[in-house]
Amino acid sequence: NRQPIVAIDGPAGAGKSTVTRVVAQQLGLLYLDTGAMYRAVTWLVLQSGIALDDESAIAELVSQCQIKFVENQQNESSPQILINDYDVTQAIRSMEVTAQVSAIAALHSVRTELVRQQQNIGKKGGIVAEGRDIGTNVFPDAELKIFLTASVQERARRRLLELQKQGQENVTLEQLENLIQERDMSDSNRTFAPLRKAIDAVEIQTDNLSIVEVTNQIISLYKQQL
Ligand code: C5P
Repeated sequence: NRQPIVAIDGPAGAGKSTVTRVVAQQLGLLYLDTGAMYRAVTWLVLQSGIALDDESAIAELVSQCQIKFVENQQNESSPQILINDYDVTQAIRSMEVTAQVSAIAALHSVRTELVRQQQNIGKKGGIVAEGRDIGTNVFPDAELKIFLTASVQERARRRLLELQKQGQENVTLEQLENLIQERDMSDSNRTFAPLRKAIDAVEIQTDNLSIVEVTNQIISLYKQQL
């Protein structure tokens, strides 16, 4: 008998991370960022110098890697991520990792290993997990499934604001739209566990909604269902 699971899926830049973090905090559940795990593995592959098309070497590397989430002293709602004891919390957000992550995440061996680790983290329930295949593949029996979307234009606009806040001004709105669209395409068209809305997921289109409005909707759905 496990605790409830909330699955939050959707394309890049739909606001999943912020929303998932707030929902987990307000419901007193654990927050699991599965995208961070694919990013950490991508960082490790890039770091190791293995060719991106050498699937057997990548499989070997991933089968031996250890990913840990640890509480962040400065910001308790946003954990730090370690892979093989390297703190990669910042490094996994680089443009380089972002550009390669979809290709690495498409590999069958990578997905099998990370899904195994995610299911292990969630085996007792009590979590809100975000990703692309949580409701369809990782936790198909989740009590509540949400599919968060927004137009490409809106998602690019949000990303630009985020980057500007971090002082990164060297990318245009148009470039961001193209990058987001490319990532949507590869995530939706890959063979293994592509990005899909689960049939029993509730879709929330967030173009004209604030973070508070989205999180309140999810929390009230959660309370209705449990
Ligand atoms: O959510 P985030 O943008 O950090 O995810 C990075 C990438 O990791 C996605 O574009 C996707 O290729 C991959 N991913 C995945 N399955 C998940 C979570 C992320 O394939 N459950």
